[in-house]
Amino acid sequence: MKKKKLLGAVMASALLVSSLASCSGEVNYTADMAEYAYEDKAPSICEVYKDYFQVGSAINPRDLEEGTDRFNIINKQFNVFTLENDTKPETIHPSEDVYNFDSTDQLVEFGEKYDKTVRGHTLVWHSQCPDWFFYDDEGNQVTADVLVERMKEHITTIVSRYKGKIDTWDVCNEVVDDSYGLRLSNWLKIIGDYDGDGDNYDYIQIAFETAHEADPDARLIINDYSLEVNSNKTITMYNMLKQLLEEGVPIDGVGIQMHIDYETDVERMRDNIQLLAKLREIDPDFVIEVTELDLSCFTSYDNSTEKEITEEFTEQFDAKYCEVLNLLMDLSDEGILDTVVFWGYDDGSSWLNDFPVEGRTNYPLLIDRDLKFKSAYWDLMNLPRQREEEASAQE
Ligand code: XIL
Repeated sequence: MKKKKLLGAVMASALLVSSLASCSGEVNYTADMAEYAYEDKAPSICEVYKDYFQVGSAINPRDLEEGTDRFNIINKQFNVFTLENDTKPETIHPSEDVYNFDSTDQLVEFGEKYDKTVRGHTLVWHSQCPDWFFYDDEGNQVTADVLVERMKEHITTIVSRYKGKIDTWDVCNEVVDDSYGLRLSNWLKIIGDYDGDGDNYDYIQIAFETAHEADPDARLIINDYSLEVNSNKTITMYNMLKQLLEEGVPIDGVGIQMHIDYETDVERMRDNIQLLAKLREIDPDFVIEVTELDLSCFTSYDNSTEKEITEEFTEQFDAKYCEVLNLLMDLSDEGILDTVVFWGYDDGSSWLNDFPVEGRTNYPLLIDRDLKFKSAYWDLMNLPRQREEEASAQE
C-alpha cells in the first residue's frame, strides 16, 4: 500500500468496522495474559488500535536481530518504525564522500519482509549533523550556494536510494525556535532568504522540493517538539506552513514529537493540534502524525534524577497516557491523524534516562526495564473497547 494515502484506508476501515461492530473491541486485556512483552502469548497494541492509527516505535539495529526477545516485541507490538539515530546526518553521511547505509538498509529490509511502514528520520536538522556541511577545507563557512548544493545532494542520494521503500520522511526537524520565529540554525543562517522574496523559509522549501523530486510518492513531514504545548511555536509553524502550502511546496503533514510528562495539559494539546489541522483548509490531505511519543515521570521544572514510583503516581501516569490516547483517537475519528509512534518501547533504553538531566532514571514508556508490560500498557489495550462501549451506550 502506498502509505501516503494511508489516512483514507484507515478511515474506510474504521467506517466498515464501526458498521460491523469492532473485532478488537471484545477482549478484556489483563496483566495475566503475558508478563514479559516478548512472550508468544502477548497481545499486540498495534492490532488493538488498527481502526484508529498505526502504532510504532523508534528502534535501534539490535532490535532487528530476528529471534531475539527485542525483535519479538517490536515485530508484534508495532507496524511503523523509525530508527532512533541511524538515519540522522551524522550517522548516514558523516563526511562529504562517505555514506553509511547499513542500518537503514536493515530497517528497510525488515519493513519489506514484514509489511511495516518505515519512517526516515531525519534529512535536515541542526543537531546530530556533521560540521562538514557548513565549512570548507580551510574551516571557513560555506556560501549559501554551496550549502544548498550539499543539502540537495544529501537529500537526493538518500531519498532516491529508498524510493518506494521508506514511506515517510521527516524532511526537516525542529526548525521552529522555542520563543519566536525560526531557529537560528546554520541552515537558516547560511541559506537565509535565498530567492530574495522577503521570507527565510527557503532552505525548508528547497529541502521539501528536493525530497519530492527524489520520491514523489513518499509522505513528507515537517517534525518538531513542543508543538502540542507551546502555542508560540504552534502559531509560527502554522503561519509558515500556510504560506508554504499556498505556494505549493510539497509538505504532506506535520510531525508532533509529543515528548510530554505526567502533568501535560491535554486540552491545550487538543487546541494546538486543532490549529495545525486547520491547514487542511488549504490541503485537505494534510495530516498530523505523532512521531516521538513518551511520557516523562519528571516535569520540565524538575531537575531531580530519581523519582519514587508510588501506586498513586502510577495511577496518575496511567491516566495521563489514557487521556492522551483518547485525544489521539478523537483526532483519528476526525480524519486528522493516522500514525502514532512511541520514542522507544522499554524504560531502560529510553533517551529520557539521560536527557535533559544526566544520570536520571526515567520510566516514560509502556514496558519496564525487565521487558515486562507495565500497567499503562494494559490500560491502553482496553481503551478502544471502553471507548466503543461508551459510544454505544450513548446511542
Ligand atoms: C534522540 C535520541 O533518542 C538519542 O539517542 C540521541 O542521543 C539524541 O537524539 N527529538 C528528535 C530525536 O527528533 O531525534 C531525538 O532523539 C529526541 C528529540
